[in-house]
Parts: sequence; structure tokens; C-alpha cells
Amino acid sequence: MRRRQFIELEDLPWWPQVFRDGVTDYLATSIRFTKIHRTVAPRLAAAIQRSGANRITDLCSGAGGPWSELLPELTTMGATPSLCLTDKFPNTRALSKLIAKIPQARFEAQPASATNMPEHLSGFRTLFTAFHHFEPNDAQAILQAAVRDRQGIAIFEGASRTPRALIFMLCIPLTVCLMTPLIRPFRWSRLFWTYILPVIPAAAMFDAIVSCLRMYTPEEMLTMARQVGDGVFDWEAGYDRTAGLPIRIPYLIGVPRRT
Ligand SMILES: C[S@@+](CC[C@H](N)C(=O)[O-])C[C@H]1O[C@@H](n2cnc3c(N)ncnc32)[C@H](O)[C@@H]1O
Repeated sequence: MRRRQFIELEDLPWWPQVFRDGVTDYLATSIRFTKIHRTVAPRLAAAIQRSGANRITDLCSGAGGPWSELLPELTTMGATPSLCLTDKFPNTRALSKLIAKIPQARFEAQPASATNMPEHLSGFRTLFTAFHHFEPNDAQAILQAAVRDRQGIAIFEGASRTPRALIFMLCIPLTVCLMTPLIRPFRWSRLFWTYILPVIPAAAMFDAIVSCLRMYTPEEMLTMARQVGDGVFDWEAGYDRTAGLPIRIPYLIGVPRRT
């Protein structure tokens, strides 16, 4: 399938925060449910250890994605970094709740764009379910910034650009409705916008379909990476599979070569 750069609702600056947070809260819960942290942790822990980083800066964090389980998992694997969560539209309620549970984590309350990260936010960079947001020039600029700053980077997507993944996304309204009682923090507005006027399930499905069409394949990410950091970073890319899910998730990892 050809990649298409359509627009997601969450890219629109005027998109109301209640819907934006509704979708990122759902995403974090579904990621927890599918235990993606178990799939990504070994690869990520190894890359962090190779890079020697003691700090992670997560870009495009939404409601925290996999971090409530992933950071403790990394710690058990011997990688003990601190974590800073950032986003252009921070979901401050969810992130406050997350950092209350994990002492090594904090979040940046000010908007932080992944294409122009403030200098004080250094560290091994991670992006979960987010790299597809960026059109090729911006996506490559994110990789280039990691190479320039000699910071490792790991990108894990949530789905692939395939007909199978697209069909799977049609189930999202149902999964939003089923998972909503499990989503924290509890909000009355979430119940209203899910069960009475189902804007959140519709928005989650729309954005997921557009996301699938925008996903980069591992080969595309690797080509971009080699253009900006061949010879100075070690790059690996491929697909991971999450137990019980019918779709594969593309990843790219880059670690600065030791000189
Ligand atoms: C699909 S969500 C993924 C959230 C989280 N990483 C997860 O796995 O659940 C994408 C996130 O990227 C954020 N985002 C979009 N464009 C961004 C940009 N230019 N800079 C930083 N964050 C951005 C959105 O606000 C949203 O929270």
C-alpha cells in the first residue's frame, strides 16, 4: 500500500482537549491491555544499555502509552533510566497520575514539539505510536536531531500499513466502548462522549485508520535513518509481533557508535 499523509483529528490545533485526551487515554489503556511493553522491553533495554544513557525523553507521550508497565520492566532488565514524558498537547491529568506511580518519571507540562525539542530535554529518545504523524521531511528531521545530539532513538509504532491492520481498526469503536470502564482517570465527560454521543469511539477509529495509511515500513524508516546517520549510528529496523494481536508493529532503533 502506498503511504498517504492524511490528517488525523488530533493533529488539528482546535480539536477539543476532551476528545484528544479521550483518545490518548484509550490508547494508553489498550496498550497496557495488550502488554506491548513485554514485546518492546528486551530490544529497548539492550539499546539503552548500549548507548550508555541514564535518561529517556519520550516524545509524543499522549497519556503515557506503555510507560506505566514499561519503565518497571526496563528496571528489572538492568536498565534504570529516569524518564521525561513530553507532548505538543500534554494530557496533564493522565501524566500526573502516571508519574505519581513511578518515582523515576516526570513530565514536561509545557508543549514540546518532537520536531523542535528544547535543549534541556536531552536523553535517549523514544516515540510510541507516533512517528507516523510526521511527513517524511519532519520524520527525517527527528532522526537527524538524534544523530546531531548523539542521543539514541527508538521508534515503535502501533500498527502497520496493511489491509489487515486497516480492517482491524474497524473494531476500535467496540473496543473503546468495552474498555471505557477501565480507563483512568475517571471522567464523567468520558462516559458522555463515549456512550451518549460517541465522539471518542468515532474519533479513535478515524485517527487509527488515518494512522495506518501514514505508517512507515521498517525499510522506509531505515532508508531515512541511513541518509542522516550512516556510519555514526548503528540502526536496526523490523517488525515485532504482540502476543494475541493479528498485526505487526514496525520499529526502528538507532544507537550512536562508540568512537
Ligand atoms: C497516537 S498518540 C500516541 C500517544 C502515546 N505515545 C501512546 O503510545 O499512547 C500521538 C501523540 O503525538 C502527539 N503529537 C502529535 N504531533 C506532535 C508533535 N509535533 N510534537 C509532539 N507531539 C506530537 C499527539 O498530541 C498525541 O499525544
